[in-house]
Amino acid sequence: MLGFDLTARLRQNHQVIPLTRAEADITDAAATAETIRKASPDAVIHAAAFTAVDRCENERDLAFRVNGEGTRNVVQVCRQLSIPLAYVSTDYVFDGGKSAPYVETDAPHPLNVYGASKLEGEQHVQTMPKQNWIVRTSWLFGPAGKNFVEAILAQARDAKTLRVVRDQIGSPTYTEDLAAALERVIEQGKPGIYHVSNQGACSWFEFARQILQQAGFDPSRVVPAASSDFARPARRPQNSQLANTRLVAEGLPLLPPWQDALRRYLGRTRAAKF
Ligand SMILES: NC(=O)c1ccc[n+]([C@@H]2O[C@H](COP(=O)([O-])OP(=O)(O)OC[C@H]3O[C@@H](n4cnc5c(N)ncnc54)[C@H](OP(=O)(O)O)[C@@H]3O)[C@@H](O)[C@H]2O)c1
Repeated sequence: MLGFDLTARLRQNHQVIPLTRAEADITDAAATAETIRKASPDAVIHAAAFTAVDRCENERDLAFRVNGEGTRNVVQVCRQLSIPLAYVSTDYVFDGGKSAPYVETDAPHPLNVYGASKLEGEQHVQTMPKQNWIVRTSWLFGPAGKNFVEAILAQARDAKTLRVVRDQIGSPTYTEDLAAALERVIEQGKPGIYHVSNQGACSWFEFARQILQQAGFDPSRVVPAASSDFARPARRPQNSQLANTRLVAEGLPLLPPWQDALRRYLGRTRAAKF
């Protein structure tokens, strides 16, 4: 999902070589090294991951092979060739027990296999001498691929009532805004960890109500539920709000509020459909 807007954004000012899994499987160390060597880029943005959070619980080996070892393979070649590397990571490296937004210096403690495998990826990136950025983001939505907004709109068309969890809080983030922020971090930000999300936070329940409202449905059709009402393989953090303190410290702009991002996303995708 992110790769689509990232490519579109970066193409405005740079030559971009977008790579799919078929073109560069990061679990194949030799092929990854060969692909990056051939491209000889000024920087690599590593946004590839096994992102199916529930499937990761049952496919633990694959999760660590892609998100852990795959990232190590990317790191190894970037280190050898002194190519700066930006790695996209997740709010799910945190356990959600903090009552305030997580800052970049908070200790990670993942609750699920996906978070643990992404954290292993971060640890590989941190072995690079300098020239690396770890950008943790959260609750992505964007025009390419499955996302929560489209899932809720599909349910709104099919069902009368939508039950959505109210006991998980986070920051919805639009891929178009994240792509712009990633470009700025790489061009202007000192190395290290960055939390990047649209501003503000909400529960999935509040997010769903806002989606219905903005799309012209009756938001009261969304009713609150508890995480325990849905049996899912992976535990999720109750609070995964990210405080974007590093952006502020580096003098980089914060992203717009998530409600504004949602409005722009709906305008763009609905216009494309009609
Ligand atoms: N989605 C979110 O809410 C969210 C939140 C926080 C952080 N993130 C992070 O943001 C990044 C982008 O997420 P996204 O939502 O755009 O994910 P996505 O839509 O699932 O895209 C991930 C991409 O990685 C590719 N991939 C999977 N295994 C690979 C492999 N072995 N080698 C090369 N490519 C491989 C996938 O290819 P296939 O489609 O062929 O499998 C897909 O194109 C990820 O690093 C993710 O961990 C996402």
